Amino acid sequence: MTYSLEVVSIGKEYPTARGTTAVLRGLTLHADRGEFISIVGPSGCGKSTLFNIITGLVPPTSGAVRVNGQDVTGSTSEHIGYVLQKDLLFPWRTVLENVILGLEVRGTRKKEARDRARQLFAAYKLEGYEDKYPADLSGGMRQRAALMRTMVTDPDIILMDEAYKALDYPLKIALESELLETARAADKTVVAVTHDIEEAVTMSDRVYVLKAHPGEIVHELHIDLGTTSTDINERRLAPRFNEFYEKIWRGIGQSAAVA
Ligand SMILES: Nc1ncnc2c1ncn2[C@@H]1O[C@H](COP(=O)(O)OP(=O)(O)O)[C@@H](O)[C@H]1O
Ligand SMILES: [Mg+2]
Repeated sequence: MTYSLEVVSIGKEYPTARGTTAVLRGLTLHADRGEFISIVGPSGCGKSTLFNIITGLVPPTSGAVRVNGQDVTGSTSEHIGYVLQKDLLFPWRTVLENVILGLEVRGTRKKEARDRARQLFAAYKLEGYEDKYPADLSGGMRQRAALMRTMVTDPDIILMDEAYKALDYPLKIALESELLETARAADKTVVAVTHDIEEAVTMSDRVYVLKAHPGEIVHELHIDLGTTSTDINERRLAPRFNEFYEKIWRGIGQSAAVA
């Protein structure tokens, strides 16, 4: 079964010394079943706020979030698995214990959870670190552990907030390719929030461009690189890559001028 996500007319205001400030206004977007969408925009435009609203971590001031047409506003849908911008690993748990956290919450038996998690350590280049603690890991390694913690639960809808930021380039390309492969093979719906235009173009079926103050969608772009390859490097070298990159770059430039 595949799942769709709808964000309907979301508004978010935060209190200020003089009243309130609108961080997001009338924000509407959707990710269809099995679709990969990205939301790009400059730093501070409200991407993480939107992400936190979709994942149910922060309530919106107005609007709704729906999964397969069902209202999930203000709660965390069981169908959504997410990777936050900050890795938020528990320092007192080993890496393996951190990775199985999501499975434990879902009631998977510890033995099965450990077995499933262990299978991922090679792909995420963390073999041998199973019994270390987060403090022993670099930022990029912690981010990979956070990615594993989400992916091991096999979520129907995957949400990522700048999830590949701390990784060195070859590993970023490898893990992005892996995600695309998994998403295609299992018909996952993916929503990625990022300021990285290259990442958005190489991975997405569709891209939304946000502007800041308040966060609003200014562009929506269908991406068709003319290749079915899930190898991010090949997609990066597709003849149409530059055309889409430039469209988004200009879109962000215009939005910055508006702000
Ligand atoms: N809890 C909060 N209280 C007040 N303002 C906030 C809060 N969280 C975020 N903001 C403000 O909302 C705006 C958008 O932030 P954020 O969603 O983190 O943007 P992005 O992820 O695109 O960098 C920023 O101006 C930020 O200062
Ligand atoms: Mg952010």
